[in-house]
Amino acid sequence: MSIERTLVLVKPDGVARNLAGTILARVEAKGYTLAELKKVTATREQLEAHYAEHEGKPFYEPLVEFMLSGPVVAAIFEGNRVIEGFRAVAGTTDPTTAAPGTIRGDLGRDWGLKVQQNLVHGSDSVESAEREIGIWFA
Ligand code: PPS
Repeated sequence: MSIERTLVLVKPDGVARNLAGTILARVEAKGYTLAELKKVTATREQLEAHYAEHEGKPFYEPLVEFMLSGPVVAAIFEGNRVIEGFRAVAGTTDPTTAAPGTIRGDLGRDWGLKVQQNLVHGSDSVESAEREIGIWFA
């Protein structure tokens, strides 16, 4: 059995608020293993590849611009069912209504950009994870 991997990004709002360590610590505390870690300023090409499935949606261009607004912290976490486990720890997309106890629910809110500043990204499937890891850890 191969160990499942997921790509986690601490988005520019999380890095700017000095929450990267807090966020990564929550994922580690859940029991997942940090395999790779780096702080990086994304390129537009990287983000267009990363968010390709959302091209054409109303939030696509603002999201790409937001992700270009400052450095992100990219990490690979490993463990059984880490993809769904991380998404449970992260909470639902809108930080204002994400459940308390989750990263977004405890640390996020609407700062004026609706759901854009929601602190973290996590892959949504094994296929997405491997594709995204290839973009961020080429
Ligand atoms: S969808 O349409 O159901 O696939 O969208 P969803 O999975 O909820 O979100 C996909 C990514 O887009 C981000 N998102 C937004 N960003 C900015 N503004 C708005 N309104 C918005 N809605 C969704 C959401 O956080 C997802 O990005 P990642 O990086 O995966 O968190």
